[in-house]
Amino acid sequence: MKPIKVVVQGALGKVGREVVKAVSGESEMQLVGAVDLKAAQDSLTLPDDSGSVPFSADLGGILASCQPDVLVDFTIAQATVPAVRLATEKGVNLVIGTTGLTKDELNEIDRLVKAHKVGAVVAPNFALGAVLMIHLAKVAAKYLDYAEIIELHHHLKADAPSGTALATAKAMAAARGKPFLQPTGKAAESRGEPVEGVTIHSVRLPGLMAHQEVILGGPGQTVSIRHDTINRECYMPGVMLAIKEVVKRQGLTYGLDTLLGL
Ligand SMILES: NC(=O)c1ccc[n+]([C@@H]2O[C@H](COP(=O)([O-])OP(=O)(O)OC[C@H]3O[C@@H](n4cnc5c(N)ncnc54)[C@H](O)[C@@H]3O)[C@@H](O)[C@H]2O)c1
Repeated sequence: MKPIKVVVQGALGKVGREVVKAVSGESEMQLVGAVDLKAAQDSLTLPDDSGSVPFSADLGGILASCQPDVLVDFTIAQATVPAVRLATEKGVNLVIGTTGLTKDELNEIDRLVKAHKVGAVVAPNFALGAVLMIHLAKVAAKYLDYAEIIELHHHLKADAPSGTALATAKAMAAARGKPFLQPTGKAAESRGEPVEGVTIHSVRLPGLMAHQEVILGGPGQTVSIRHDTINRECYMPGVMLAIKEVVKRQGLTYGLDTLLGL
């Protein structure tokens, strides 16, 4: 079987570097090019020193010369839709990890991939463990009436609560068909942010990466579901799965849970 040819956009970024390394180490894939706004030379040396690939800030040029099957994008939201436009015109499938895409931008991606009969996987969280945590929290949500989330992230994280914590609270409430109950007490203003009855507490400290604990409570008992990441390698099994799957499916697939059959 021919390897899946991949170009990584955002190749100098924290996640992009990991994607370059992971794709280079996959026998079923071949890294054929790389793109980054900060590209300062025209080739990128592969992490294992086994060679180099064309490298540029010009995505259109790299797509034309490298002819990949898949473009992986870990950049900034403003860069994603223009990249989807260029890629879909050339029949290139997409795996998108960039966060902060609006509903309109997702609709535009959906429209473009459909119009050009290619596939796109867009996932706000490629960590398999985080997707499993949300799935398990949804299962537990039907049986216990109270829930809180403690999410802990590195001190440079821009947003609070995290997108994953918000998505978890909303998914849990949707699974039970109603908001969680809120304990009554005087100190409401000193507690976290309530979302669908789930109070979310956000911790920001140097030394942390990305962690989340969902705690559900009922009479005389609690259930805790916790996910911890220690480095950005955590995203790679999900990204590799998406690259292998996106070449087989047309249209927009949102979220890794669909690919995992959850
Ligand atoms: N889906 C997930 O599981 C997941 C996980 C972690 C991070 N992210 C998201 O991925 C994105 C990247 O995260 P990061 O931590 O690697 O950021 P980063 O700042 O370390 O890297 C981003 C890279 O993109 C490049 N870039 C920016 N604009 C570009 C453009 N127009 N064209 C080409 N390259 C461009 C930058 O030069 C930089 O090297 C963010 O949106 C982040 O929130 C998603």
